[in-house]
Amino acid sequence: AATMVKPALHVLLAGPRGFCAGVDRAIKIVEEAIRKFGPPVYVRHEIVHNQFVVEGLRAQGAVFVEELDEVPDDAPVVFSAHGVPKAVPAEAKRREMIYLDATCPLVSKVHRAAEHQSSAGRHILLIGHEGHPEVVGTMGQLPEGSFTLIESVEDAEGKPVPDLPLTYTTQTTLSVEDTAGIVAALRRRFPDMAEPHKDSICYATTNRQAAVKAIAERSEMMVVVGAPNSSNSVRLREVAVRAGCPHAIMVQRGFELDPALMDGKATIGISAGASAPELLVEEVLARLRQRFMVTTEEVVVAEETITFKLPALLTR
Ligand code: F3S
Repeated sequence: AATMVKPALHVLLAGPRGFCAGVDRAIKIVEEAIRKFGPPVYVRHEIVHNQFVVEGLRAQGAVFVEELDEVPDDAPVVFSAHGVPKAVPAEAKRREMIYLDATCPLVSKVHRAAEHQSSAGRHILLIGHEGHPEVVGTMGQLPEGSFTLIESVEDAEGKPVPDLPLTYTTQTTLSVEDTAGIVAALRRRFPDMAEPHKDSICYATTNRQAAVKAIAERSEMMVVVGAPNSSNSVRLREVAVRAGCPHAIMVQRGFELDPALMDGKATIGISAGASAPELLVEEVLARLRQRFMVTTEEVVVAEETITFKLPALLTR
């Protein structure tokens, strides 16, 4: 019998991809809390925007809820990596709950800087996506009416803004390019606007976008492993297309991918959002190997060494 010869497919792996330090820490906080306090440990909001991670933690004894009032007083609760409005830990304190804040330290930094600017009398132009939990959390650090959400260049150019000293801050997971365009539009409109000390788009977002850019032109298709509600993952898909990849798709799991999509292609690219475990990239590769003789090449644009400490409550 004739042996089937699988066609060749070369896969460029964007480096870095997948888990960032903030996601890694958030997941460890839930796991360690379960170990220390025993199940159930409640988690307010998806700890990170990845169903596979959430299911894994649920199997270990995590219970996911949307609001604090769904958590009994005597159960430990973890706040998600995206950050929470100030009212949430305040309420947990009032109810004398054991709570662990898995807010990424880089998001907390943005919170503190925005608070500081606000108390210095500046109105904050908050660049981000309406309704994303990180934006809700950052707004929740600031007094009512002390910020304006800017979602686009159009908002930057025309949204009514009070006649006060201004500054801006951003969500940590935005498109580097789009944000630069929005900030430029704000500067044109408000030449006196104060500049923040540091860019708030985080290192992980920046590096993952740069890595996708580096392989986009050589890739006939880009597969981004991530979830549709994961802001940084959605951005990776956009970046791929903008950087010259003709077609970019997003999958959450290997089985979702139809490998026949790659028929006739020689080279494709793969990346993964900051909340997607490497295991899921391996699933996608295994799926492709069912149909192709896969060769891989990792293209690394940045080395990441950053890690974040766990809260003292878990380490002592
Ligand atoms: Fe933090 Fe950036 Fe990850 S803000 S959670 S390091 S995507």
